[in-house]
Amino acid sequence: MNAARLALLAWLAFAAAATAQTGALARGAPPPDPALAGRVAGADAAAGARTFERRCSTCHDVEKDGKHSKGPLLWNVLGRKAATSAGFAYSDAMRRSGHEWTVATLDYYLADTERAVPGRAMDFTGIPDAKVRADLIAFLRTKGDAPAPLR
Ligand code: HEC
Repeated sequence: MNAARLALLAWLAFAAAATAQTGALARGAPPPDPALAGRVAGADAAAGARTFERRCSTCHDVEKDGKHSKGPLLWNVLGRKAATSAGFAYSDAMRRSGHEWTVATLDYYLADTERAVPGRAMDFTGIPDAKVRADLIAFLRTKGDAPAPLR
């Protein structure tokens, strides 16, 4: 590979990273957070369950035999593509986001839902506290057929 090609590749990588910093999930990956996996691995799922009860359960069921309510059923949410739970009428914004729910995308979404998915129909601003989000994500990891990878 010649130098010009290398420079072009470096520029493309830089541009992609710059987009991710300011962009929505729809346009790029969330900015990398190297501490996130460790935060979720060491998180308190029981505290997350309490947060879910207080802040999410008015709109979401999370049990295997649960149903959609105001929001989609969140059983098996980690590892699935956004807006793909059958039988729920998602917004165009969520359907177009094209993302898979991983620890990273979920953390980014739950921090500031409108920033991550502009035009989303979820009437919930977000959770600014990273520790509270990590606990919640640790709880959501227990609500699936298999524990989702820490990515
Ligand atoms: C006021 C109701 C409401 C609250 C409170 C709420 N949600 Fe939602 N949620 C929704 C709706 C409605 C959608 C679908 C959004 C869309 O289609 O744009 C959604 C979508 C989602 C999705 C995407 C699911 C998928 O299948 O792609 C996740 C993840 C999610 N919510 C997690 C949470 C968590 C975690 C909480 C608590 C911190 C929460 N929500 C609080 C209504 C709510």
